Amino acid sequence: MATLSRPDIGIIGGSGFYSLFEDAEKHEVETPFGAPSAPVTVGRLGGRLVAFLPRHGLRHEYPPHRVNYRANLWALRAVGVRQVLAPCAVGSLRADLGPGTFVLPDQIIDRTWGREHTVWDAVGPVVHTAFADPYCPRGRAAVLASAQKAAADGPDAPALVDGGTLVVINGPRFSTRAESQWHAAAGGTVVGMTGMPEASIARELAMCCTAVAMVTDHDAGVEAGEEVTHAAVLAVFEQNLSRLRSLLERVVAQLPEPETDDEAVCGCRRSLDGLTLPTP
Ligand code: ADE
Repeated sequence: MATLSRPDIGIIGGSGFYSLFEDAEKHEVETPFGAPSAPVTVGRLGGRLVAFLPRHGLRHEYPPHRVNYRANLWALRAVGVRQVLAPCAVGSLRADLGPGTFVLPDQIIDRTWGREHTVWDAVGPVVHTAFADPYCPRGRAAVLASAQKAAADGPDAPALVDGGTLVVINGPRFSTRAESQWHAAAGGTVVGMTGMPEASIARELAMCCTAVAMVTDHDAGVEAGEEVTHAAVLAVFEQNLSRLRSLLERVVAQLPEPETDDEAVCGCRRSLDGLTLPTP
């Protein structure tokens, strides 16, 4: 890919985002960890060049525990991406945050297991990546500013909650009521299945990562909550997709312009300082 056409921003989301992109081109990308969920699509959005990867594959064939997160992040990085936006559907662990609310998480509780969760997997340098603040401060600021502008522009803007802890369960089943209450008691705000190891691998690869969580249901332990069903989650996601798409279009325009790695201003980009990427 020519340098001028290298996208600095990547979106990992559902296939409902394809139609956002103008002049889209598909790129098959090989990675040391196998194939990503789909070819990377590069196109124009919000005045910027953006790469897009459907997390669950072109036919939604990869359940959350089978997504090749390492290959997805590696492929985005290989086409030039340094800032990742990761929209996802979540259940709410709080009665006051209902379906259709957007949450901009600032913390994660990782309850996943059995997933390939690190690029530092070979016998070689032992690397312990800092992850105290899992999401990019600049990306979060861009989402917040975009939501505020959208609210000033019209009544259809989504309500966005600044901050919250995303609990990531392994799935593909939903939580029991007891698990759900335990996640809330542990400080969780919302619960999803795809946020990890997506965010930690982005950090290992020195990419900024910002999750935008769309609440589709009250999780089973919330007092008012019904049992969660996949059909209900999909229906609410579809109802709110256009608001998510227009928010992301605004966010892309607000994100910092590309810098070279040496000029990087946030800690996310420094996790590889002094290291050479592994070639497993
Ligand atoms: N994704 C959407 N709703 C969810 C829930 N209640 N639990 C886990 N993942 C979800």
